[in-house]
Formats: sequence, C-alpha cells, structure tokens
Amino acid sequence: MNYRHAFHAGNHADVLKHAALMVLLGYLKAKPKPFFVLDTHGGRGLYDLTGSEALRSGEFRHGIARLLAAPDLPAELAPYLAAIRAANPPGALDVYPGSPALIAGALRRGDRLIACDLHPAEAEALGAVLKPYRGARAEARDGYAALKALLPPPERRGLVLIDPPFEKTDEFQVLAAALTLAWKRWSGGVYLIWYPLKDRAAADGFRAAVADAGIKDAACYEFFVRAPAGATGMAGSGLLAVNASFALDRPMRAILPVLTDRLAQGAGASWRAERLTPE
Ligand SMILES: C[S@@+](CC[C@H](N)C(=O)[O-])C[C@H]1O[C@@H](n2cnc3c(N)ncnc32)[C@H](O)[C@@H]1O
Repeated sequence: MNYRHAFHAGNHADVLKHAALMVLLGYLKAKPKPFFVLDTHGGRGLYDLTGSEALRSGEFRHGIARLLAAPDLPAELAPYLAAIRAANPPGALDVYPGSPALIAGALRRGDRLIACDLHPAEAEALGAVLKPYRGARAEARDGYAALKALLPPPERRGLVLIDPPFEKTDEFQVLAAALTLAWKRWSGGVYLIWYPLKDRAAADGFRAAVADAGIKDAACYEFFVRAPAGATGMAGSGLLAVNASFALDRPMRAILPVLTDRLAQGAGASWRAERLTPE
C-alpha cells in the first residue's frame, strides 16, 4: 500500500469524481428521509495543497485550481465549487477536501457516513477530520469487506462510493466482483465507482463485467484531458454509476463538456456519457 492521495488531490480525476458526488448528495438531500453513505476508500479526508506532496506533483494546478479560475461554469458545478471554496479562506486554495469531508459537510441531522481506509495513518487522519461531524465516522478497515458487513443499511436509502487506488493489477476484477456482491445485497442503493483510463482494455472489461452481472441502470461518464497515449500517465478517468441515471445523466452531460474544455492538457481531450444497462 504505497498509494498516497496527497499527490493527486484536486487533480482532474478528483474534479470529475467529486463534481458527480456533490450532484448525487444534492439528489439524496432532496427528500427528507435520512440517508447512509459508505465511502469504502476514503483517504485522509483533507489535503494540504501547500504541502510537499501536492507541490511536488502539481496535479491540483491543472485540476481544481484551473476550474476555480475558469469563467462561465454551469450551475451543475456550483455545489462542488461552493464546497471547495467553503473549505478555504476567501480567494485562496490552501486545502482540498476529499470525498469523506465533502460527504460529511453535506449530512443533515439523521444522515450517516462511514468512511473506511485500510492504511492506518490515513485512517487516523480521517478520524480527526470527521470528528466534528455528527453522523460521520472513520473506520480503519478494508473497504471491500465493509461492503459485505454494512450493506444493506437500515436507512435503505443512500450511496456507496468506491474509489480504489488501482495499485494492484487485478483491481478491476476485484472491483467488479465487489460491486456485484454489494448490488445483490442492496440492489436499491446508488453506487458511484471511479476508475482510471490508462488501459482501455481493462476498463472495457470492467464495464462488460458489470453489464454481464445483470446490474440494472448502470451508466458511465468518462473524460480525457488529452489523447490517451499508451501507459504513460493518466490521461483520463471514468465513473460507473448505478441507480443514478435519473439524478446524474442530465447534470453530467452539462458538466463533462465544460471539464473537457476548461481542463484540457493537450490535443485529444474528450468525454463520453453512455448507458451500459437499462433500468
Ligand atoms: C484514491 S484514494 C481515496 C480518495 C478519496 N476517495 C477521495 O476522493 O478523497 C484510495 C485510498 O484507498 C486506500 N486503500 C487502499 N486499499 C484499501 C482497501 N482495501 N480498503 C480501504 N482503503 C484502501 C488508500 O490508503 C487510499 O487512501
């Protein structure tokens, strides 16, 4: 477990993932009934953009920093941008809130978040970040095991975010199996899964496995900041969403072209939104 999200916080992949996450949280909050969120791979929750990791990679400069400075952004991005601004002093970008902090900030009385991280130091930092939030808890555990242990939640309403580090070569297979198992336990939950687009064949295999598993209402939203060129660097990433097309499809079709335009890093930036399985 060498992956540290501090190098990547606020990059184009985080922008994609967290913009969609905020849309889904808004959708869950549209009804008064309490909801549950499981963030299986939570990370440390808050990232110092003035720290050595973030400055060394500089990835946030091509992601959230560019987006915050961009003109004419669609209303669908407003909840995400507001959450990033709220975490920072006026006009500054010193920290980047990770998924558990974004979710915790959206909880109402009665809503719950459990965010897991297997790395002890990340889980400890996450615990400190979530401490002020009633209803939010960090757990130092395997996020895939948490799917088995915690689903379905008693609320019977909510969201599962699966955002693995993709350090292992079989992560896509593990992910497809874990999603299938989780969906069988809780077919009514909303699922949001992030994946890298480094190896096109691996991502295609994952999407096909989800469709073959019989999972209903699955769609994917992908975005490349430049033309994919072999295995060097991550030119793009995608989200696989389940039970979310009603809430996510229209907003993502507004968000994706804008991200592609404002965050392009070279020729060949592109996006696509595609339904994988019917409702
Ligand atoms: C991509 S980062 C998560 C970023 C976070 N979701 C966000 O959006 O701010 C992946 C995290 O998964 C953790 N991790 C790796 N294997 C894990 C596992 N089996 N269960 C839970 N966490 C794991 C890593 O320590 C790392 O912090």
